[in-house]
Amino acid sequence: MFNTAIKYNISLSVPFLRGKELKYVKECIEKEWISSAGSFVDMFENKVADYAGTKYAISCVNGTAALHIALILAGVTKGDSVIVPTITFIAPVNAAKYVGADPIFMDCDGFLNMDVNKVREFCKYECKFMNGKLINKKTGSHIKAVIAVHVFGNPVDLESLDDVAKKYNLKIIEDAAESIGSFYTKGRLKGKKTGTIGDVGCYSFNGNKIITSGAGGMVLTNNSYYAKQAKYLTTQAKDDNLRYIHNEIGYNYRMTNLSAALGCAQLEQLDKFIGIKRRNYLAYKKYIDEIEGLKLIGEPDYGFSNFWFYSLIVEEKIYGMNRDQLHERLKRKGIQSRFLWHLNHLQKPYKDYENYKIEKAYYFSERILNIPCSIGITENEIKKVVKALKND
Ligand SMILES: Cc1ncc(COP(=O)(O)O)c(C=O)c1O
Repeated sequence: MFNTAIKYNISLSVPFLRGKELKYVKECIEKEWISSAGSFVDMFENKVADYAGTKYAISCVNGTAALHIALILAGVTKGDSVIVPTITFIAPVNAAKYVGADPIFMDCDGFLNMDVNKVREFCKYECKFMNGKLINKKTGSHIKAVIAVHVFGNPVDLESLDDVAKKYNLKIIEDAAESIGSFYTKGRLKGKKTGTIGDVGCYSFNGNKIITSGAGGMVLTNNSYYAKQAKYLTTQAKDDNLRYIHNEIGYNYRMTNLSAALGCAQLEQLDKFIGIKRRNYLAYKKYIDEIEGLKLIGEPDYGFSNFWFYSLIVEEKIYGMNRDQLHERLKRKGIQSRFLWHLNHLQKPYKDYENYKIEKAYYFSERILNIPCSIGITENEIKKVVKALKND
């Protein structure tokens, strides 16, 4: 059985390649530098580090590979535990398993991000802190890290999470795959971008992200040892170029020049894209605020979101139709929409792992529908989506 791709009139999230993408990719082909050696890879790394405000950025083939490397850098190994959100694309949870660690699933807050209050409560009541290690009372395992995923662009309450992490000696890995360009507007993190605050941060440049390199990812850090190690591990851990000596197990994770060329061209447009995402969010919001039973999730008062995705909460009792039915109606009208990911603590490979007081995630999981948010969406298309939501 093969899946036949449905052609939508209005897609959910497609790339916008109208800057210098073709020029830069053509340059790679003309110079015959198409693999992972090539000037665009270094340039993209430098430009991303500059943009994000970190000392180092190390390219990867995709965001999942970046997360895998981040977990290795954080020293997470077999038998350790890692606190993860149940609401996230599954990649960071899988990455924890790649290094042999067990996930502990957390509930979400009102912005679909990890509930930091519950993380604090879990550490305080379900764990003991001994000899600088946070030990899970139930399993006896060492909880080494927490993965903060900035869901759909909204910054996690990282100031509070940082307090918890400091208290219990936890490493913070930021999964900023969806939140490139989002930042904090208040408190001690004011002005800092997501992905630059934890011990290691990760970006994804997958085709549906706010900027894309086709496939690609980045490890962000201010730690020079981590940066050096990340470059080493992503390039097969080669210690001698002539004799091919490898003293560690490495990975073939470095980005190609072709991807980096696309990434460089996209990065030049990122601020403009964020402006468009925010403008379109407000355009949707103006209309959706008038529809009873539908509500768009906003941004927290401490942060600025890149508004990568627009998440609609569908309240069946008021709206008169549930989320699944609305999805079907939009589909019939040629409009693509998407459910929230299936909760990770219920996924087949993870259903037997620990989860802590999951409540809100169930509420959102039944009600969230993401609506078209491509950079290139027109005002007229937004009106068509709204018309379909109103069932006019
Ligand atoms: C939150 C999150 N983390 C990680 C990833 C993985 O990135 P990639 O697809 O580049 O491997 C994605 C999306 O693709 C994501 O949305």
